[in-house]
Amino acid sequence: MSQKVVLITGCSSGIGLALAVRIAKDEKKRFMVYATMRNLSKGEALIKAAGRTLGRTLEIKQLDVCDEESIRACVGSLPEHRVDILISNAGMGLIGPIECQSIDEMKNVMDTNFFGLVRLLKEILPDMKRRKKGHIVVMSSVMGIQVLYYTIFLTSQFTLRRKYYSFCTYSFLSISLIEPGPVITEFERKVYDEGLKTDLSKADQVTANMFTNIYMKNYKQIFETLGQTPEDIAEHTLKIITMENPPFRHQTNTLYTPMTTLKYADPNGDLPIDTFYKMVFEHDKVFNASLNFLKLLRWRSRKSFTLEKDKSN
Ligand SMILES: NC(=O)c1ccc[n+]([C@@H]2O[C@H](COP(=O)([O-])OP(=O)(O)OC[C@H]3O[C@@H](n4cnc5c(N)ncnc54)[C@H](OP(=O)(O)O)[C@@H]3O)[C@@H](O)[C@H]2O)c1
Repeated sequence: MSQKVVLITGCSSGIGLALAVRIAKDEKKRFMVYATMRNLSKGEALIKAAGRTLGRTLEIKQLDVCDEESIRACVGSLPEHRVDILISNAGMGLIGPIECQSIDEMKNVMDTNFFGLVRLLKEILPDMKRRKKGHIVVMSSVMGIQVLYYTIFLTSQFTLRRKYYSFCTYSFLSISLIEPGPVITEFERKVYDEGLKTDLSKADQVTANMFTNIYMKNYKQIFETLGQTPEDIAEHTLKIITMENPPFRHQTNTLYTPMTTLKYADPNGDLPIDTFYKMVFEHDKVFNASLNFLKLLRWRSRKSFTLEKDKSN
């Protein structure tokens, strides 16, 4: 059986890097991975992690999702210009009250997260349609469902869902949205650091206070408590791309399931917002205690897992 060609964007760090390495290391060698990044000088970490797969089941190529010419050149350089599985992973975040963000900052996020994928599809989709075969995988976010603090970042990721639903009419094409919760990567650090620099002078006092003392305070703790590793997400994604009938949506973090279930339970959308509001603003002590309890459970399970592994050696 011939190898499936997988093109992944944003492989210089985090989820993209872990994905590229995991898929290239597939035990059955079912895939040829083209791991792309906009700046090839950032390739060192991927080269190191790829190890012996480099030049065998993994090749690194330049691709900037904001530059049509670079997409065309990258896809044009592939054998038969063929992509069987596109994993649209490149992305960036932006947090803060909307009145404190410039239109240029917001456009930049939309240009990368939303139009980046549109540009890729314009190049890759026609060939998938012609061959009546293809799988498009989008690294989305569970936050698109569980929205409390509405940001341009969420809009950019959530718009993708609506847009791509219509593609399901092509029964020969599969579309899957991978919906992680928090994942511990550079993304978290970059977004947090930028968040700290937000100029809150255009926000009213209540909003500024909420952003600094509730949102930013909880941000770190939520990542520490509920955060998954990029390798976890890579494992989930590998499972999805090897399924005969891959699902349209796939959440990677079961701790988020109760909140997203509320979204579907109430067509008005009030239930999850009310619940989250109460958790954060009215029962914050219980909320924080639960997060600390979860942190302890995770620490204990990791410890017992390590001990089990040691015993088996
Ligand atoms: N971390 C999370 O909590 C989380 C949760 C849900 C969804 N996600 C999504 O997962 C994806 C990967 O994020 P991550 O957590 O792995 O963060 P990351 O480590 O910051 O990775 C983001 C990647 O996207 C690349 N990128 C940015 N703009 C690009 C462009 N114009 N063209 C090509 N590549 C570009 C970055 O390249 P440079 O190194 O050149 O900047 C980097 O390789 C993103 O779409 C993010 O929205 C992340």
